[in-house]
Amino acid sequence: VTAPAQIVLRRYPDGAPTPSDFEATGLDVPEPGDGEVLVEVTHLSMDPFPRLRMQPRPPVGPPLPLGEAVDGRGLGRVVASRFAGLAVGDMIAGDVGWRTHAVLPGDRAKRLDPGLGPPERHLSALGPSGMTAYFAMHVVGAPEAGSTVVIAPAAGSVGSLAGQIAGLAGARVVGIGARSQAAALTGALGFDAAVDHRDLAAGLAAACPDGVDLFLDGVGGPAHDAVVARMNPRGRVVLLGFIAGYNDGGPPAYGTAAPILFKRLRVEGFLLADWQARFDEALRQMSAWLGSGELRPVEHVWMGLEQAPAAFAALFGDAPPGKQIVRVQA
Ligand SMILES: NC(=O)c1ccc[n+]([C@@H]2O[C@H](COP(=O)([O-])OP(=O)(O)OC[C@H]3O[C@@H](n4cnc5c(N)ncnc54)[C@H](OP(=O)(O)O)[C@@H]3O)[C@@H](O)[C@H]2O)c1
Repeated sequence: VTAPAQIVLRRYPDGAPTPSDFEATGLDVPEPGDGEVLVEVTHLSMDPFPRLRMQPRPPVGPPLPLGEAVDGRGLGRVVASRFAGLAVGDMIAGDVGWRTHAVLPGDRAKRLDPGLGPPERHLSALGPSGMTAYFAMHVVGAPEAGSTVVIAPAAGSVGSLAGQIAGLAGARVVGIGARSQAAALTGALGFDAAVDHRDLAAGLAAACPDGVDLFLDGVGGPAHDAVVARMNPRGRVVLLGFIAGYNDGGPPAYGTAAPILFKRLRVEGFLLADWQARFDEALRQMSAWLGSGELRPVEHVWMGLEQAPAAFAALFGDAPPGKQIVRVQA
């Protein structure tokens, strides 16, 4: 049994986050009020976007408060319920935060269907990362067979799934990532080529001899410009995020818009929140692909709540391929 604990933010990171920006402290287990449930947190999802809120004046959302448990999505098992829709023993997903126990409003806790797969899957292919990969690549991007698709970052949570989805559509799939990810991308993840993000111009020229038709961009800045420079006329760009700027407080500098005009590109911003009404469709399709073996979940599990700071820091460093998940309790 894990003693009740939480991981709090000690100070705002200066550049890339490090484990010493965080601290483990004890936790008084709260009581659920009317309409609320108490959960034992089992797993945490590590996501890069909250880094933007680890500063006094974030470009989006309120700052993450210092000295309090870090906000974050995860899974938990209901251990006390004062909400009619959830019973003790139910597994739920919700904004549990980096702690061993959390009280949530019952209507903000989503009951999981354990028949769909092990808990980790509900944070990867069947969770927000998988939903993002499905809608951004399969629905919005909708690559044609034989077209060239570039994904950045490619080996991470969204990219590793989006690349497989583009491959299922018959596209040639090129991933951008750290040099250390190249073997994973072109091996188990099924990408056709890997490009090191420190050597983009030459790497893209070699990997995309016929230009680029679709670009799923979660990096922004110079990587965005390098891929746009190789796009074919009437190519399309789906903007997911700009992780290259998360440690600097906001969007990195993007280059000129001239290539968008001259190549008549279409650039579309993507926010998963817009797609909630269609999550059932995505869950059905992702489950079918997982069931048939056409889609492989890519997950890396860190054991113990105390690993959360290192797992989060790895998102901005040398994370192993796939979704970074912290297992808090079995
Ligand atoms: N719009 C939406 O609704 C939505 C939803 C989910 C995610 N997103 C965005 O999609 C992107 C990917 O998210 P994810 O959850 O799948 O994260 P992720 O790819 O699992 O993790 C981050 C990866 O980004 C790469 N990276 C880190 N710092 C970088 C830098 N300075 N320059 C270039 N690459 C860097 C690293 O890969 P390498 O080691 O291979 O370089 C790292 O493993 C993020 O921008 C995220 O905010 C958007």
